[in-house]
Amino acid sequence: MLNVALPKGRLGEKVYDLFEKAGFGCPSIKENNRKLVFENEETGVRYFWVKPSDVAIYVERGAADVGVAGKDILLEYRPDVYELLDLKIGNCHMAVAAKAGFKDERKRALKVATKFTNIAKGYYAERGRDIDIIHLNGSIELAPILGLSDVIVDIVETGATLRENKLEVVEKFVPISARLIANKANFKFKGQIVERLKQELAALTEKEI
Ligand code: PRP
Repeated sequence: MLNVALPKGRLGEKVYDLFEKAGFGCPSIKENNRKLVFENEETGVRYFWVKPSDVAIYVERGAADVGVAGKDILLEYRPDVYELLDLKIGNCHMAVAAKAGFKDERKRALKVATKFTNIAKGYYAERGRDIDIIHLNGSIELAPILGLSDVIVDIVETGATLRENKLEVVEKFVPISARLIANKANFKFKGQIVERLKQELAALTEKEI
C-alpha cells in the first residue's frame, strides 16, 4: 500500500483528481462523509485527509509515504523530505502587503504580522531590516487595518482579500505551488511505486500547462 497524505480542502480535491488520472483512483473518497482514511486494494493506495499545514509532518515522520504540500509550508518548516515534483496547481505568491500608501520610514523596527515567521525573518534579514514579528494563525489582513502591524507577509492568490480590505502588495517575492513530497526512508523500499506515481503526475502536469 502506498500511503498518501492529501491536503484537506479545495486544493486536495484537485490533487486527488490528478492522482486518479495518474492511475491511483480510490472511488470511496468521493463519498460525502467524515471519514479520514480511504483505500483501494486494486490500485494499492491509501489516502488520508490532513490539514494542509500538517502534510509535511506526516510525510517527514513516515506516517505517509508521499503527500502534497504547498511550497510555502516547505519553505517555512523545511521538513526533511524529498521534494519530487511541482504539480503546478495551487499557484500563488508569498508577498509583503500593507495599507494603501504605506511607506517604511525605517525609524524603528518594522512590525510584521504573519503565519510564516521563518519566511518573513529570512526576507527581512536579507534586506538588513529590523523587524518585530507578530505570529498570527489566520485572517492576517486584519493586523495592519487595526494597527497591530505595519505590514503582513502572506499568501496572495487572486488579490481579492487585499483589495476588499484596502491593502496592497508591497512586493511579491516567492512563487508558490503544490509539490509532491516523499518520506526519505520509505522511498528506499517503495521507490518503484513512488517513481511511477511521479512519472504519471509529471506527464499530466506537463499536459495541463
Ligand atoms: C489565504 C491567505 C489570504 C488569502 C489570499 O487565506 O492567507 O488571506 O488566502 O487569497 P486571495 O488573494 O485569492 O484573496 P486562507 O483562505 O488560507 O485563510 P486564513 O485567513 O485563515 O489564512
